[in-house]
Amino acid sequence: MLEFDLLATEGHARRGRLRLNHGVVETPIFMPVGTYGTVKGVSARSLHEMGAQIILGNTFHLWMRPGLDVMQQFGGLHRFEGWHKPILTDSGGFQVWSLGEMRKISEEGVKFASPVNGDRLFLTPEVSMQIQTVLDSDIVMQFDECTPYETKGHITTEAEARKSMELSLRWARRCQAEFARLENRNALFGIVQGGMFENLREASLEALVEMNFPGYAVGGVSVGEPKDEMLRIMAHTPHRLPAHKPRYLMGVGTPEDLVEGVAQGVDMFDCVMPTRNARNGHLFTRFGDLRLRNARYKTDERPIDPTCRCMACAGEPGTGVGAVSRAYLHHLDRCGEMLGPMLTTIHNLHYYLNLMQEVRDALDAGRFEAFRAQFKADRAVGLQ
Ligand code: GUN
Ligand code: ZN
Repeated sequence: MLEFDLLATEGHARRGRLRLNHGVVETPIFMPVGTYGTVKGVSARSLHEMGAQIILGNTFHLWMRPGLDVMQQFGGLHRFEGWHKPILTDSGGFQVWSLGEMRKISEEGVKFASPVNGDRLFLTPEVSMQIQTVLDSDIVMQFDECTPYETKGHITTEAEARKSMELSLRWARRCQAEFARLENRNALFGIVQGGMFENLREASLEALVEMNFPGYAVGGVSVGEPKDEMLRIMAHTPHRLPAHKPRYLMGVGTPEDLVEGVAQGVDMFDCVMPTRNARNGHLFTRFGDLRLRNARYKTDERPIDPTCRCMACAGEPGTGVGAVSRAYLHHLDRCGEMLGPMLTTIHNLHYYLNLMQEVRDALDAGRFEAFRAQFKADRAVGLQ
């Protein structure tokens, strides 16, 4: 099941509420990425405490390990990972695409060698629906082909992008048929493709809307294109999707991209950026980014961001648990201590989730445009 209520709008921006089988999601929302059934380094309890409402999983990775038999035994991904709130799973299309040379795409699906044990595998729209049904994902993504921006220096032409987009449309129909045959009671989203071509984006969108999905994603962005191309597609496609259904921009992006996406009518985002960057010492804050590996932080006694309320920046006041300093996190990183990435990941996710909470509060109060201007000004200040 999926119900979506629009609570407020401001320009293209929307404040909504999404009801799924495992709970309610307030939008706009950022969804932490948990590829292998774990948001790397963060427990379900920590995710809950920092306000995560829905997390991602990956069909492709969970199919490889632990495999469907274990997923079946646990009755799905929720009980397996101890997260009983909503889960969205990607279909495997994007992950197979990332295998590069190792795969062969045909009308039927994608043949590839398992990166885990070399087994020959065949992922099709039907198999993707079968896996995501066993996972019991609240939101199931269609199996698609993520059209690349370029391949080995060759920029994808309009004819190539059209061919790819049309294949994704045929796969969307097969996904819908299999999803119905499986009597899956969750929600299946269609994915708009079309590369950097607005006419193709419109054709993809129209055909998917005709198929009447309960929600829609915009895929094929943040695939190596220049930033202005991404912003052009972000300004073109989301607001053309049906107003009364949720809109998900896949794989985006920086804090600035999220606020811009909301302004363009996007309700849902996911990205590895806060988690992956945290592990590389790249921290996000209200007043700009901080590179923890910089030598200047070796002796810096301040928390990452004194205005942040996360476990690392605020500790637990009144309990004897203090904030940790930049110097301490810099030290943990240099020693390869596992607490380092755990704390920096919590900080970055807290920042992203809190940013979206502020966006929702601003939309509730009818002051999103003012918020957007203040956000940009703050981020440009640069952290001391
Ligand atoms: N993640 C980021 N972009 C995409 C896309 O185009 N398709 C899918 N399935 N996942 C994505
Ligand atoms: Zn923090």
